[in-house]
Amino acid sequence: MQEIYAVKGNIIYTKTISEYTICENGYVVVLGKKVKGVYEKLDEELSNIKVLDYGDAIIIPGFVDLHVHAPQFANIGLGLDKELMPWLEAYTFPEEGKYNDVNYAKEVYSHFVRDLWKCGTTRASVFGTIHKEATKLLMDLFAEAGLGAYVGKVNMNRNSPDYLTEDTQASITDTLEMLNEYKNKYELVKPIITPRFVPSCTIELLKSLGDLAKQTITPVQSHLSENLGEISFVKDLHPDARNYANIYDEAGLFGDVPTIMAHCVLVNEEEIELMVRKRVFVAHSPNSNCNLSSGIAPIRRLVTRGVPVGLGSDVSGGHNLSMMSVIVSSAQVSNIKWIESNRVDKPFTTAELFYLATKGGGKFFGEVGSFESGYEFDALIIDDSNLPTFRPLSIEERLQKFIYTGDDRNIIDRFVAGKKITEPNCYLR
Ligand code: GUN
Ligand code: FE
Repeated sequence: MQEIYAVKGNIIYTKTISEYTICENGYVVVLGKKVKGVYEKLDEELSNIKVLDYGDAIIIPGFVDLHVHAPQFANIGLGLDKELMPWLEAYTFPEEGKYNDVNYAKEVYSHFVRDLWKCGTTRASVFGTIHKEATKLLMDLFAEAGLGAYVGKVNMNRNSPDYLTEDTQASITDTLEMLNEYKNKYELVKPIITPRFVPSCTIELLKSLGDLAKQTITPVQSHLSENLGEISFVKDLHPDARNYANIYDEAGLFGDVPTIMAHCVLVNEEEIELMVRKRVFVAHSPNSNCNLSSGIAPIRRLVTRGVPVGLGSDVSGGHNLSMMSVIVSSAQVSNIKWIESNRVDKPFTTAELFYLATKGGGKFFGEVGSFESGYEFDALIIDDSNLPTFRPLSIEERLQKFIYTGDDRNIIDRFVAGKKITEPNCYLR
């Protein structure tokens, strides 16, 4: 028998990108892992079920972080006065080199998973490092915490420091080992094939990973057209390539299986066309794009064309794990983009960005990020009573105030796939 219960409070979520669905003082009824429905009142047949009554709190879907680097959590806030390529050399690669030490990985990754929990991220698509043991540990920590995640062992076999350069065959064998061991190990935590980006992978490696992805139907994540320095390096490496996206596509790494490309700040029309056709997800990471002088991604254009978009913290290119921070910076850059496009690329509303941070990214995980019937019940309970207000606010306004001025202390409970998840205490010092 599946457990059935209801969560009571002020329910707000987005079925479509354009508008909120709100049920004040209502019930989300959960059956097993999934939402049965949202009700204003519990009728006869549901009148005896357990009710978790959260009073005047707000109930929202859990946040989805579509792009984040677990090892870089140790570097959060460091070196952000540099551009992408110098930042990778000076800060990121030296830090990632440390994850051949599983004990070190355990310390950082435990804090990382705990902080994701804390800030209300219930699902994430995560880069590890090239190291398989540390990456396996990261998957175990996610599973122990009850959070949902795709986790990738990163592949790198060129243009990287010696300590982060894999032998091509070893890179493929280690990836295959991860897939075999973890494909069916957990329900909510799955492996994802993760070539870092074109500059750090030979065509031979990319092609082997593409074959592996298609043979095993494993999803793919990488970076695309993030920063001018990176793109000119790709042009130097592949002068004859049609464009950056096409290099992934020719290797079978561009939407033949579900695929996330982070950033896409400087994609051209042809690349957008390919993304539309192959349903490639974009992880929009504006905190990172501002910090690393990458630019503003054409997200309004991508959304209008039908490219699936979610939001990403991109820690530690981004300086904050909180998806509320990413929603706010997404709004700010979209306002600037509007002005700079001579008022062509319309700015995003808070409702639209809330959608991207929940159902938009959630689509990569299946039916996730909404309270529509059949969706997995991922939810946050928000007590906003400490936020100063001087007139009665609507539920929509309360959500806006929470996103812009609240923080993790307002999140009093978290649910993932129907289960309440408590603070992970794994190996914290
Ligand atoms: N491109 C390749 N690697 C990285 C990374 O670690 N962070 C970001 N933001 N971009 C990348
Ligand atoms: Fe990234």
